[in-house]
Formats: sequence, structure tokens, C-alpha cells
Amino acid sequence: MKILVTGGLGFIGSHTVVELQNEGFEVVIIDDCSNADEKVLDGIGAITGKTPIFEKIDLKEKNDVADFFQRHHDIEGVIHFAASKAVGESVENPLLYYENNIGTLVYILKALSKKERSNFIFSSSCTVYGQADEMPITENAPVKVAESPYGNTKQMGEEIIADTCKVTEGLNAIALRYFNPMGAHPSAEIGELPIGVPQNLVPFITQTGVGIREELSVFGDDYPTADGTCVRDYIYVVDLARAHVVALKRLIDKKNRANYEIFNVGTGTGSSVLQVIESFERVSGKKLNYKVVDRRPGDVISAYADTTKANNELGWKSEYTLDQAMKSAWDWEQKIRNKS
Ligand code: WQD
Repeated sequence: MKILVTGGLGFIGSHTVVELQNEGFEVVIIDDCSNADEKVLDGIGAITGKTPIFEKIDLKEKNDVADFFQRHHDIEGVIHFAASKAVGESVENPLLYYENNIGTLVYILKALSKKERSNFIFSSSCTVYGQADEMPITENAPVKVAESPYGNTKQMGEEIIADTCKVTEGLNAIALRYFNPMGAHPSAEIGELPIGVPQNLVPFITQTGVGIREELSVFGDDYPTADGTCVRDYIYVVDLARAHVVALKRLIDKKNRANYEIFNVGTGTGSSVLQVIESFERVSGKKLNYKVVDRRPGDVISAYADTTKANNELGWKSEYTLDQAMKSAWDWEQKIRNKS
């Protein structure tokens, strides 16, 4: 069964391709390589023994998208990761985000709408909740006014899919709202490859641990949380990847209850910034060099998932601990810096 993975050379995409191939799916990757390296194909091949088909296509070229689906009419499902995802960059360059994240989604949905039946998994984000009023966050929590154009493209993406599913009987879609993905494949053949100074906490920690960064800045310790630092739901990227395979199978096996469904994908446990630092120190045996600085504008105080729906309805549950995920991130960092 052939599955298209857009953005399949990226961090979450590549880990999902591995899990799909492990389950026997044939995978075709589309990626424009704007934020990922073609060498990731070798890592995937090293893990699964099979290198996926790869086509370098700019999904903003609608004729190229239509042509792709003409040539691959036997695509049984699409997992759509391809998008720009840097919150700060989206504030500076909103049109880049609306064109890349919305335009491409529209072209893919137009192609899928022509098929008798299509199965579509959308990469969404807990960012749609903003600062939710209650913890843990359920899928019924209100979607709040987006804090950034990036977050807005996820909200708009969900609405575009919902509206399209309402009038396109053959289209079956699931939006997965990720919490905070982290870590790397246990083989250390693939992992997160942030370009430039990492925005996210975990790669900044491991780069500090390996000596690329002088010290970690902790953005505020005066929040109304147990230790004053922000709380997030850090989910191991392999757990997250497996959630995509489970969701895809739900649609292929026609087990979905509606032709558009939404699931939170997290561990259900909140961890503070200081707890994540302690996890790094436990798994690496190193003291992390950090200092507390001012809060980062736009940060929510706390966000962690209520995973009841994913556990009971989707039939997926995260299996790895924070320390296991952190160990994989640390092993990966040392390997790519040739320090292991
Ligand atoms: C986590 C915590 C920071 C860096 C982002 C996107 C979100 C989603 C997941 C795509 C916060 C603190 C961070 C640092 C720090 N991405 N921190 N020092 O902001 O929760 O979510 O990634 O969907 O859309 O916004 O993740 O890793 O940036 O921050 O203290 O150098 O770590 O303040 O409390 P975030 P993050």
C-alpha cells in the first residue's frame, strides 16, 4: 500500500517514514529540501533496509502537485508534514507562512478530492489552544486567537480540512495536535537537525551539553508553576511517529467515526523546564550550564495533553519516558558532533 509523506525528510516526517516502512507500507516522500537534507534518506534506509521513493517537489507549484497525483494514482493515504514551523520567523514573514502552509494544503486537498476515497493525516499542533484555561487540555478546549501566524496556519488548516470534508464524501481526515516533540531514533541514524541557533528547548540543551552553546537561557522562573518555569508535554518523536501510523490505519480500515476527527498526541504528563534540565543531567551525567533570564514573549505558562481520546478511541498511548527520550536526544547530538 503506497503512502505519500510530504515533508518526509524533516524531523517528525522521517521518523514517521521509518514506522510506516516497519509496518510494510511503501512510502513516497515529497520534500522541497528547504529545511531538510536529502541525506536523511540514507538514515531511513540504514534503519529499515529500504530507501523510500523521493521526489523533490515544491508543493506551492499547483501543477506539479496535480501531476504528482496523476503519476501516483495508487496513493492510498497522505500524511502531510510539509510546512514552515518557526514561530518567530512567522511573525516577521507572515505571507511566507500563509503561502507555504495554506497554499500547499489547498493543492493537496484539491488533488485528493478527485479520488473516490482518500485518507489524510494532518500535522497540527497544541499551539491552537494558546493558553488553555484548564489542564490537562482536551480536544474540546476552545481554539484561541493564534499567538503567531504559524499557529494561525494550523488553526486555518484544520478549518479548511473540516470544511472540505463536509462537502467531500470520499475525503477522510484526522488532525493530530502534537504537544512538544523531542528526541531521536534509538539507532541515532536520524534525529532533529535544527538549522542555526535552536529555538526549541531540547536541542538547545543538548547543544549546550556537547559544547556548541555556552549556556542555556531559561526564559523565566517566575511563572505560577511548581518551580516557576513553564510546563510542557514533551513527547518522544518515535511515540509521535507511531501515532501517525495508528491514525492512518484507522482511516484505511474505515474505523473512523466521522470523516474528520481530531486527536491530541502527547504523554499526558507536564514537565517544567527545570525538570527537563534535570532529565538531561541524569541521562548524560553532566551538569548543564544555564542561567535564568527574562520571560520569552508569547510563551504559555502550561500546556499538557488529556490523552483519553487518543488512548481509548484511537487506541494509541505513548510508551517512552522523558529520560528515555532525552537519552536518545543526547546520543544523537553526540553522534552528529562525532563525540560519541
Ligand atoms: C519549551 C519551553 C520555553 C528554549 C514550540 C512551538 C510550538 C510547537 C512546539 C510546532 C518554553 C523554554 C525554550 C530556550 C527556554 N512547534 N525554553 N530556553 O514554545 O512550547 O512550542 O515547539 O508545532 O508551535 O511554539 O517549545 O521548545 O520553544 O519551549 O527556557 O532556549 O522551554 O520558554 O517554556 P514551545 P520550546
